[in-house]
Amino acid sequence: MASEESAGKLRLAGLTKRFGPAGRRLGSAGRRFGPAGRRSASSGEGGVTAVDRLDLSVPAGSFFALLGPSGCGKTTTLRMVAGLEEPTGGRVLLGGEDITGLRPYRRPVNTVFQSYALFPHLDVFENVAFGLRRRGVPDVAGQVRRMLALVQLDGYDRQRPARLSGGQQQRVALARALVNRPRVLLLDEPLGALDLALRRRMQLELKRIQTEVGVTFVHVTHDQEEAMTLADTVAVMNAGRIEQLGPPAELYEFPATAFVANFLGRSNLLAGTVLGRGGDDVLVEAYGRRFSVPADRARTLAGAALLGVRPEKVRLAGTADQVPDGHQWIDGTVSDAAYLGVSTQYLVRTGRGVELSVFVAADGEAPRVPVGSAVVAHWHPRHAFLLTHSSTDTNADSSVDTNADSSVDTNADSSADTNADADAATGAGSVEASRS
Ligand SMILES: Nc1ncnc2c1ncn2[C@@H]1O[C@H](COP(=O)(O)OP(=O)(O)O)[C@@H](O)[C@H]1O
Ligand SMILES: [Mg+2]
Repeated sequence: MASEESAGKLRLAGLTKRFGPAGRRLGSAGRRFGPAGRRSASSGEGGVTAVDRLDLSVPAGSFFALLGPSGCGKTTTLRMVAGLEEPTGGRVLLGGEDITGLRPYRRPVNTVFQSYALFPHLDVFENVAFGLRRRGVPDVAGQVRRMLALVQLDGYDRQRPARLSGGQQQRVALARALVNRPRVLLLDEPLGALDLALRRRMQLELKRIQTEVGVTFVHVTHDQEEAMTLADTVAVMNAGRIEQLGPPAELYEFPATAFVANFLGRSNLLAGTVLGRGGDDVLVEAYGRRFSVPADRARTLAGAALLGVRPEKVRLAGTADQVPDGHQWIDGTVSDAAYLGVSTQYLVRTGRGVELSVFVAADGEAPRVPVGSAVVAHWHPRHAFLLTHSSTDTNADSSVDTNADSSVDTNADSSADTNADADAATGAGSVEASRS
């Protein structure tokens, strides 16, 4: 029996989902298909491996974000946790108990979808009360009122969903899920339909609510800023697999792969060769120049490597003799300058065809550097990091943002009104499971 403490601990062990070849689509008639030819989850032999031997541990009571581009397998992962999709392999464990074979409504898990999936014919109060009534729970009114207060919707009890704003509807969806006291709340791009300002406000709200209820939140998003704002732990997912998992600052400061380095913020990645150790540093040759990285910031000690440095860690000087002691540099020409108010983003094209991205904070001190200027881009080695250069890294040598897929996920669960999804949303029956 799981202790109260670990009851919300979620573990995915080797979780895998393989969809059949096109034409013999499994699941709900192709509604999850993205644009043809999208390089997302690994495909082959006509099938798609949407989730590929995923291992993941989510501590009880934590705010966990699953971050990745559209099509990388986030929704499929959540649906397997909710019981809406049957895994091809692997297990789902909650509080140490194997729930892989449990029917969705028997799992102490609720889901909040991007589309809210509210009942249009029921008012706010009845939407929230739905799961409680189905299970014949006493004191429905008291519990619903407490939930509406939690999401700051007191006084809206008798409104129909259609009369509410997007943000308010999302709050109702949250209240409706949380009123069932799930051990884990799954949120699938829940703020994706809101405009930017409202999304930022709702992010803070979500965080407050999670802290207040202490339920384990697993939040799926393709928005790196959202993941970093909300989560204690972020797992970066790519093509069905987890590339790196950790606190946001750790992932940002020391990414494990080129994908993470460019999905969580941006990075300049210089392709080079490791020359070896030199004291506490690792020495690298790239573009005919030598660079170093502290050994504890190097993920490889030999062979082909990518020397990474974040654009905001790079400074611009006019000439090499203006570069501070201890800094490393590469010279080039400013090929683009974008003034963004809080910063100016420069592109510096070096003699060897590498383009560096440089963000200069608008602190009122730094002069604007005109396009065409000869400059020296420099940084302190403690801000650099070194990655293994694998053949699959496509974004080496460029600072181009790989968030190409950051367009809003079109997999909005518009068909969330299927029975299973409605159960997942309202949690009808979920208390049965948590009583055990
Ligand atoms: N029912 C399905 N049948 C076939 N392929 C699917 C199905 N659901 C998802 N896929 C495919 O699995 C991959 C992952 O999809 P999904 O989990 O929805 O990604 P995400 O939520 O990260 O955008 C995609 O390539 C998608 O096209
Ligand atoms: Mg999705």
